[in-house]
Amino acid sequence: MTNCRGKLLSVALFLTLIIGPLLPKAYADSVDLETGRDIFHKHCQACHGDKGDGKTFAANALNPPPKNFTSEKSKKELTEKRMIQSVTEGRKGTAMMPWKSNLSQKEIRAVVSYIRQKLMKL
Ligand code: HEC
Repeated sequence: MTNCRGKLLSVALFLTLIIGPLLPKAYADSVDLETGRDIFHKHCQACHGDKGDGKTFAANALNPPPKNFTSEKSKKELTEKRMIQSVTEGRKGTAMMPWKSNLSQKEIRAVVSYIRQKLMKL
């Protein structure tokens, strides 16, 4: 019995340590993008819009309005680093609140990747 469990454990270890890193990076990325999409739709879409263009009902009441992620200006201006920083710490004096107490660093990276790849098409 113990022996059997031992074997199972070593198989699991083998899979994680040896096969894991060999899995195509695309697989890990798609898992992240799914997490990112879920977070975006749950927490960000109301202000930023499902296309990320900021054309939402909420935008009418916000000054400054949510950024249009899809504009050429945003594509130039918003580096990945800046986006992670803005999501983590928020933007002072705007409706963009800090998310660091609601989302883990990994979740913040995932939602930023989703915005960049799927909405900004970078
Ligand atoms: C209550 C409305 C609201 C919600 C919800 C919201 N945002 Fe924002 N967001 C804003 C506004 C307003 C701005 C524009 C801030 C500015 O002009 O500096 C903004 C700006 C941003 C920016 C650009 C910041 C920069 O550096 O210029 C990013 C990236 C961003 N939001 C991501 C997110 C993500 C990711 C979520 C969900 C986790 C989210 N936002 C949820 C209102 C919102």
